[in-house]
Amino acid sequence: MRTPIAAGNWKMQYGPHQAGEFATLLRGQLDGLRGVEVVVIPPYIALDAVSRALAGSTLQLGAQNCSDQPGGAYTGEIAARMIAELGDWVILGHSERRGYYGETDELVLRKAQTALAAGLRPIICVGERLEEREANLTERVLSAQVRGSVLGLREDQIAQVTVAYEPIWAIGTGRAATPQDADDAATVIRALLGERYGDVAAQAVRILYGGSVTAANIGALMASPQVDGGLIGGASLKPEFVEIARSIAAARPA
Ligand code: PGA
Repeated sequence: MRTPIAAGNWKMQYGPHQAGEFATLLRGQLDGLRGVEVVVIPPYIALDAVSRALAGSTLQLGAQNCSDQPGGAYTGEIAARMIAELGDWVILGHSERRGYYGETDELVLRKAQTALAAGLRPIICVGERLEEREANLTERVLSAQVRGSVLGLREDQIAQVTVAYEPIWAIGTGRAATPQDADDAATVIRALLGERYGDVAAQAVRILYGGSVTAANIGALMASPQVDGGLIGGASLKPEFVEIARSIAAARPA
């Protein structure tokens, strides 16, 4: 059984002060919730404040990115091992990083290798654009992204990896994928993992859905047995995230 995940990607919102306060609120509602791993993912500069707010709770902490380099003279970058002093998770290859900052599959793979070497658990994002979906290229795009940014990892690393299916047209648009779309994409991703790592390993990898997840649609998305939780943006900045995390837990009764 895969324990589902409710991961809140705060993006470039909430500095240390507000982030610490909101993390305290979430802790009050979600500490000790069983059957789900709740992960809060604030901007780098708020990691320390949120780590203090969550210390001793079951809520976990992650970053939104890391350098592909283990350390050294890279102005403006943050090393995975620095993140690992405070948190356990890192989002890699989010479509906003791929799209606005030119991150390629090769770079995302290198970041994943660096993150894993530092003991972090990467959440590697993949997802197609609207034009690609409309041209029936979704499977081909997912296949290229998974091959390029995930399948280069070693067999002994894959258990630490989570993949997030985030169709670009669904992110921040209020137009979530249908449960069937999410199920289809997760099935494609799991099959690719199975070809490379074998079925047993592929069955153990968590595959999240992200893109306009709300308290209203998460139940239907979780109806797919292939979907192991959500990577939540906008709604993770609101108390609604509490409801979403509870619904994810309730969808997979132990
Ligand atoms: P959204 O973002 O929930 O605001 O659509 C999801 C994401 O980008 O991870």
